[in-house]
Amino acid sequence: MSHTIHPLDVIIKKRDGLALSQPEIAHFIHAVVLNGEQKLAEARGEKPAELAATDKVSDAQIAAFLMAVFQRGLSPLELADLTTAMRYSGETFDATPLHSFTVDKHSTGGVGDKSSLLIAPTIAAAGLEGTPSISVPMISGRSLGHTGGTLDKLETIPGFDTQLPLARMTEVLLETHAAMVGQTPRLVPADRILYAMRDHTGTVESPYLITASIMSKKLAEDIRGLVLDVKVGSGAFMPTYEKSKYLAELMVPTGELADTRTAALLTTMDEPLGRFSGNWVEVWECVDIMKGIRHPMSADLIELSNILSGWMLYFAGKSATPEAGARLADDILRSGAAYKSWLSIVAAHKGDTSVFADPAAFHKTTATRILRASRAGYLSGMDCKEVGWAVQRLGAGRAKPGDPVSAHAGIESHVKLGTKVEEGQPIFTLFSEDEALLEEPHRMLAATVQIADQPPVRQPLIREIITRETMLAAG
Ligand code: URA
Repeated sequence: MSHTIHPLDVIIKKRDGLALSQPEIAHFIHAVVLNGEQKLAEARGEKPAELAATDKVSDAQIAAFLMAVFQRGLSPLELADLTTAMRYSGETFDATPLHSFTVDKHSTGGVGDKSSLLIAPTIAAAGLEGTPSISVPMISGRSLGHTGGTLDKLETIPGFDTQLPLARMTEVLLETHAAMVGQTPRLVPADRILYAMRDHTGTVESPYLITASIMSKKLAEDIRGLVLDVKVGSGAFMPTYEKSKYLAELMVPTGELADTRTAALLTTMDEPLGRFSGNWVEVWECVDIMKGIRHPMSADLIELSNILSGWMLYFAGKSATPEAGARLADDILRSGAAYKSWLSIVAAHKGDTSVFADPAAFHKTTATRILRASRAGYLSGMDCKEVGWAVQRLGAGRAKPGDPVSAHAGIESHVKLGTKVEEGQPIFTLFSEDEALLEEPHRMLAATVQIADQPPVRQPLIREIITRETMLAAG
């Protein structure tokens, strides 16, 4: 016998630490979205549809639910149910017409992390040839806070359209095996409502709510494989190694319970990844790599991209192991096949590929300044988050959603942690489209860069890999 579910009862149950059933979670999220739609209709001056009493949920109740989850947590099954309810709260991408193994990656956010721009064309190139076919339906975000966003980088390419409707995304995927787009307004609306409420209720940091938020959006891409790059270190979103690992251990089973092969790599973010951090400059760095120009400062970026690609190729069945997948990814990059795919992906998004002929010439900064080593020694440390904020203040990032970003602002890193430097040697070059924006970031970078007599102890790029197998083995 079915019984009526009241949102208040769901809140009380979670408040008291009891497990919620799948119908209770699904009903609560359904009510959240119905009430959100009602508010939107009212804002448009339309008469909203009448809701049944059990479908009504107030903002106060949504806030109470979030706080109850924050305090009590969720079991793996509850988390999978919340993620599924959010995933199907609006439109979803349907990969059936592709007849292809769909795979994507997600990063918790870093500084200079442009690996998506290398990975999408690499996997697309592998997916074009032979069997199995592989496709990358990549739905990405914008820069916020100290971290960059793939969409802002892509939109520096003249004409590049990231706002494709899902039907056009399918066509692009059929043609090129990768699409790189932004979230449509109707994709996972529950996350938009809950995320805004979390911001006001001190519940942003809940690893359960972060997992449901990230995984509902990724799983709405209808992917069969997912590789998560969970950053650790001074530039990471999560404040400690333990918290990053805890998040990874929530996300992996959530993906697996949705029949998506999922691996989470805990990777070091103690300094900007690669050579450049910004928007166009990051595209420039990737174009160089895909053309076979391997600047020494890009070595960590190439290594990370190949390792993440390797897991994607392994999940897709293109390689026997993730390590063999990484070698295959490197071959694809070196052969020029990834660059060929990149050109067709950009063209399919109406981007002007002529700017890749000379990416340095397309870089239009009006002001530059160099931060030099204040003394001789070893580059021993920096607060990578502060470096990310300096990039944002140069104009490359945004302080709040909706702010414009500069295409050409950013920084070039000249040395990696542990490098011996002479006094006066360049550490960073700062680029801005506005001379007045150079002063503060220069001061921020000067304050955070540390030079010592001894080289620092450096963390490996890949700290740990979490999969369902490693979790089972650890009990
Ligand atoms: N990114 C998301 O999409 N959601 C979160 O909750 C945190 C990071």
